[in-house]
Amino acid sequence: MTALETIDDVDRLLAGQNYVCDRALSTVVFLALRLGRPIFLEGEAGVGKTEIAKALATGLGRRLIRLQCYEGLDASSAVYEWNFAQQMIAIRAAEAAGEVKSEALNTALFSEEFLIERPLLEAMRPQEGGPPVLLIDELDRTDEPFEAFLLEALSDFQVTIPELGTIAASEPPIVVLTSNRTREVHDALKRRCLYHWVDYPSFEREIEILHARAPEAAASLSHEVVAFVQQLRTEDLFKKPGVAETIDWAKCLLALDVISLSPEVIADTLGAILKYQDDIAKLQGSEAKRILDEAKASLEIA
Ligand SMILES: Nc1ncnc2c1ncn2[C@@H]1O[C@H](COP(=O)(O)OP(=O)(O)OP(=O)(O)O)[C@@H](O)[C@H]1O
Ligand SMILES: [Mg+2]
Repeated sequence: MTALETIDDVDRLLAGQNYVCDRALSTVVFLALRLGRPIFLEGEAGVGKTEIAKALATGLGRRLIRLQCYEGLDASSAVYEWNFAQQMIAIRAAEAAGEVKSEALNTALFSEEFLIERPLLEAMRPQEGGPPVLLIDELDRTDEPFEAFLLEALSDFQVTIPELGTIAASEPPIVVLTSNRTREVHDALKRRCLYHWVDYPSFEREIEILHARAPEAAASLSHEVVAFVQQLRTEDLFKKPGVAETIDWAKCLLALDVISLSPEVIADTLGAILKYQDDIAKLQGSEAKRILDEAKASLEIA
């Protein structure tokens, strides 16, 4: 494993995965690894919350195990389930052999052979290369009972299966939780974690990110794209563009051989940065030109 002795080592590790992070974020990552605490990342959409878990896993050479949260997610989808279909087949086979009432069958039906491991249980298992990175993504989409359940699972890193007993992680996984803050996550869970708000990047940092993710874009176009997106984020929009949108847009412009932004080009490619019709409608007419002029003016000052 790569030794991470300093915050600079974390920076380098993430940079090696084309992930550009600011000092505050690399400090949180460093501390989380050092203290063995989960990282809780909140922020707008498309600012690199999920990506950091991926970059960390690849950089450290660990397996990434992802638990995608959604409304109604329950323990059976998060931890384990019994393979009901296979159990039925085993029962049928036993029936045919006349062994249906045997104690042995009962034990066999609830053995690991019929266990389907879901992300939380998988993350407790030893993995090649060391403890995995467990990404619990978009936690705000689940409900409170699941959060309470998670709190318990994260506090002792063990899972109890009534028929099998307790399975404990020999080494706890590196846990990254993310939330888009569509609702507040409970304090008790937050308290267990190191918290970081992932904000939109500064102009300079977004240029760096674009350079890392779309290196084929010329500096002049990258500057215009980032200045425009940064200006756009100051407008009153239903959904502001994230970093993901900046990168997508630059790639679209490259595919169209655009060298420099114009109001016409912006109007034709707006779907790459704005995803709501109301927002797109707002930029019709002279608005795109006004924002572009402001963006260009900000570049001249810089
Ligand atoms: N700091 C960064 N360095 C490099 N790439 C970044 C960075 N931030 C964002 N990106 C790029 O933006 C894309 C989207 O990021 P990601 O999926 O992590 O966003 P998110 O915050 O999880 O968004 P959502 O809330 O919508 O899930 C990534 O695939 C990556 O290419
Ligand atoms: Mg995400």
